[in-house]
Amino acid sequence: MNTHLKIGLVGFGCVGSGLYEVLNKSGLLGATIKTIVVKHPEKKRSLPKEAFSYEVKDILDDPEINVVVELINDSVAAYELVKRAFKAGKHVVSANKKLIAEHLDELLALATENQVSFLYEGAVAGSIPIIRNLEEYYNNDSLTSVEGITNGTTNYILTQSNFGVDYASALAQAQELGFAEADPTLDVDGFDSKFKLVLLIKHAFGLSVEPNQLHNIGIRRITEKEIAYATEKGFRIKLLSRAEKIGQEVCGFVAPHFVDRTHPAFEVNNEFNAVIVQGLFSDRQLFLGKGAGSYPTASAVLSDISALKFDYRYEYRKSDAGKNLQLSEQFYLNVYIGTPHAVTLEEAGFEEVYESFRSRDYAYKTGLISFEKLAALQTNAREDLAVIVLPGALQKPELVVAESANVEFNTH
Ligand code: HSE
Repeated sequence: MNTHLKIGLVGFGCVGSGLYEVLNKSGLLGATIKTIVVKHPEKKRSLPKEAFSYEVKDILDDPEINVVVELINDSVAAYELVKRAFKAGKHVVSANKKLIAEHLDELLALATENQVSFLYEGAVAGSIPIIRNLEEYYNNDSLTSVEGITNGTTNYILTQSNFGVDYASALAQAQELGFAEADPTLDVDGFDSKFKLVLLIKHAFGLSVEPNQLHNIGIRRITEKEIAYATEKGFRIKLLSRAEKIGQEVCGFVAPHFVDRTHPAFEVNNEFNAVIVQGLFSDRQLFLGKGAGSYPTASAVLSDISALKFDYRYEYRKSDAGKNLQLSEQFYLNVYIGTPHAVTLEEAGFEEVYESFRSRDYAYKTGLISFEKLAALQTNAREDLAVIVLPGALQKPELVVAESANVEFNTH
């Protein structure tokens, strides 16, 4: 694109105001914000009232504006806005993971039809350039897994729990620091991590999945008992978005994990995110950076804006390979389940129990469980179950059956 980028910015919250500053400070040539649209005129902001418009049509109907940067909280309003922007022939940069995870294929079709770009590096893991790396560097189908800490708020809360800060205070701090979503349930129950996982699966494997096809287990039910268990075993607790390609199946989910010292996410603290990719030939690689907050997220948005200057768009080169893949829940994993009600552990459906503990007011078991049984526990919806995945690979049923056959054989 040889023309000057004239930006219409929608939203001036944590990331929007950050972008304004970052763009000015970066000295990026050939890109200027022409119009900023916000929703609430009465809100106190860092710029004078005259700097703002209140109608998106001031951007959409302005033929001079060729790029819409969408940075609002409301994913329903963002959906309408982005569609209108595409139809008006404008490129869109967004960091709205919920919007993109829920409507990616439809929005892509519309962007393609209108010959415009849709870029969203800021939507996954803040400042970490993971989408473009998955697109450009890992542009063949040899990736076998992608996993990571993709939510700064929960990582902040979990990190602070190691210093004795209670859940409510740590969440309040994360909100104060501008890490949390307007509705922090999205963070703590693992939805935000799931939206990001949808995008990682799309760009890592070429597979389109809907957010409601993936299970997410959050961190809300983790108590001091689990924190003590982690300390005792030398683990740390991290909320991981995780997707593994096994044959033609992709197993994907979000859940808290106990990670040991050998895990690349072990030392990743506070609002830092980490994405770990595993390739057939490259082996394991770690991307690390701030995953939430005004400037780090704005830096990814800035990078998208600057990419538009050379007509960049995602090519989705793995889409054909992705058509041969399917999402699967047919796998087993090692988990810890803790609860004040020991009887519920009997109902959990462990395939094999490794460890069992029961005191007057708390009980836990660790063992192998099928993912379907784990998902059926609906842990986000209940108060009494803390589920944390233990270190180890996901196992396909064939392997589990083969191993139990071996055990039987050995005991005869
Ligand atoms: N609430 C998100 C987080 C913001 O905590 O990671 C960045 O996507």
